Amino acid sequence: MDKNEAKRRIDALTEEINAHNRHYYLENSPTISDYEFDLLLKELIQLEELYPEFKNPDSPTSKVGSDLETENAPFSQYAHKHPMLSLANTYSIEELRDFDARVRKGTDSPFTYNCELKFDGTGINLLYRGGILVRALTRGDGSVGDDVTRNIKTIKSVPLQLKEDSGYPAEFEIRGEVFMPFASFDKLNIQRELDEEPLFANPRNATAGSLKMLSSKAVSERGLDCVLYHLIAPGYENSLHSKSLEDAASWGLPISSLSRRCSDIEEVIQYIQEWDTRRHSLPYPTDGVVVKVDQYAIQTALGFTAKTPKWAVAYKFKPEEALTKIESIDYQVGRTGAVTPVANLSPVQLSGTTVKRATLHNADQMEILDIRVGDSVYVEKGGEIIPKITRVELSRRESGSVPETFPKVCPACGASLVRDPEQSKFFCPNSDFCPPQIEGKFLHFASRKAMDINIGEVAVHQLCEREYVRELQDLYNLDDLQLLSLDKWKGKSVENFRASLEKSKSVPFHRVLYALGIRNIGETTAKTLASRFKNIDALAAASREELLEVADIGGIIVDSIRGWFEEPRHLKTIEELRKAGLQFSLEEKAPVSDTLKGMTIMITGNYSIPRETMKYYIEAHSGKVGSSVTASTTYLLAGSKAGASKLEKARKLGIPVISEEEFYRIAAPGEEPKETQPQDGQMSLF
Ligand code: IVH
Repeated sequence: MDKNEAKRRIDALTEEINAHNRHYYLENSPTISDYEFDLLLKELIQLEELYPEFKNPDSPTSKVGSDLETENAPFSQYAHKHPMLSLANTYSIEELRDFDARVRKGTDSPFTYNCELKFDGTGINLLYRGGILVRALTRGDGSVGDDVTRNIKTIKSVPLQLKEDSGYPAEFEIRGEVFMPFASFDKLNIQRELDEEPLFANPRNATAGSLKMLSSKAVSERGLDCVLYHLIAPGYENSLHSKSLEDAASWGLPISSLSRRCSDIEEVIQYIQEWDTRRHSLPYPTDGVVVKVDQYAIQTALGFTAKTPKWAVAYKFKPEEALTKIESIDYQVGRTGAVTPVANLSPVQLSGTTVKRATLHNADQMEILDIRVGDSVYVEKGGEIIPKITRVELSRRESGSVPETFPKVCPACGASLVRDPEQSKFFCPNSDFCPPQIEGKFLHFASRKAMDINIGEVAVHQLCEREYVRELQDLYNLDDLQLLSLDKWKGKSVENFRASLEKSKSVPFHRVLYALGIRNIGETTAKTLASRFKNIDALAAASREELLEVADIGGIIVDSIRGWFEEPRHLKTIEELRKAGLQFSLEEKAPVSDTLKGMTIMITGNYSIPRETMKYYIEAHSGKVGSSVTASTTYLLAGSKAGASKLEKARKLGIPVISEEEFYRIAAPGEEPKETQPQDGQMSLF
């Protein structure tokens, strides 16, 4: 194919694939099979690789519609140049020997293995061009990943620029794992516990959650780290994988020094046995050993199955368990009044740390396991970190032990506990007077994602104990003498506290709403409610029906909201905080136009802009976003993967179904939508 022909073909393919994308994603009616589509895409990818100068700016190979981060699609998504595969797992030495036998059968040439630790985090693909980090993609669905470059750039061990003149290729990709060292993980969970936010079950989940945060500043505070283990670059066809990693290390990239070249499977087994123990002293999580044929030429000859390479296998370690004794059971009362049973254990070593406590989750869980004080129990680290009790060693049960009964009254204030049937949890209903709940209320109010006020746990405890504060508004009326009486508080702490109080007056309404600590109103729900009702008075006055109409708000949340606003003390708090200067309404933006005035538009599926942005777009043009398809719906706006039941209902009711393109023609005739990425949960299109 000559250059002119290549350019013509690239242009034709670009146009054709973009048209198919529109059929598929916007009109929900693909005209070719996925397989045919993939063939076209593959042809374009190959041509673009050969003739990068002809690649069009709107090439579908750069940006692919996908449902990776479905909700608001906060990240751009790009196709991986080479699919990101996973590995076949084995759990026994026997299976490992089978793997070795298969490899030997697949090649006549001599080969060796490279053994590496299997880091337990999130896979990442880095693209370096001219020695500069240009893009970092998550694994996504293997073919398409989320662009998390901004977040990856906050990880200290990932160089933004490679060592000068170190001989790196002009352009290459390298894959690896972003992970959270145990120290960062513990710090994060301790903070989350203080903030009464749900804990991460293990460093892997914490890593995945951190990488997908919108604020890179917040990511930088998560203490993530990275190790790279798979180079994709030209020039290594006859070399060794281990050599490619050595080279990558010399360019300044973070490569593990704990890998080992092994001449046969016996040496591999030795490495595995050694690390099954040694890994417990590593400061980061690992969950196995990855065994790779070291010779690239043999890797190529062995090839791939549909999902995994035939030249590598992951040997997974079994989770460690330990036997210990339950000394006593505590019942902890949290900010929301939820009572959680926690077992105090005879200290025992497990995966490198001493375990003294394990959560028993709730009354149901205790009953299922038939947990009793004095029992010998097995503890395991779920995902290797948070200890959980997996079973009781009944053969060791002491005679005379009695089944544990969940308390009937709150261990902190004595109020009768009530059971929340939905969550199989017991709650202390005395939320305004129960000490841990009062303290929790202040800590939550002051937490970073709420009002971000400079005050710690000890100070809050003392303020509550001395009854300097009872209600949230009291924080704004403390005098210097009261503040200086707090442990370790000096002029500077008072100054910082006062400055943060002042700053809290410009915290946006949705965070103030979250800060009030209404049960079941997390950050996301607070945002939804704020954008729907615009101010606290409208929210307080909303009927059950109106609340239920809001997307993602169900009966439990509605009961919490209505119950909270029925309490006169809470209304007083709002009044006082309003007087103090806090924001109780959204900053009103003048509508961009009233082209959608009087229309109720129901949305379903994914669009070329984030879903949340689409809602703003509709409202900015004076339309209403519907919560279900009813006779009064004006249009059903159907994106890709539109809900079948909604389409069906619209058809039955005779509601017109429109595509995203048609919608823009109605909302903003002659205008193209502009997209801006949401920042810290604030969506804006204008
Ligand atoms: S190699 C084609 N090496 O484990 C081979 N993967 O279960 C690509 N992982 O998706 C992977 N440590 O996210 C490789 N030393 C290591 C690894 C490793 C952790 C992860 C990786 C992969 C998953 C497979």
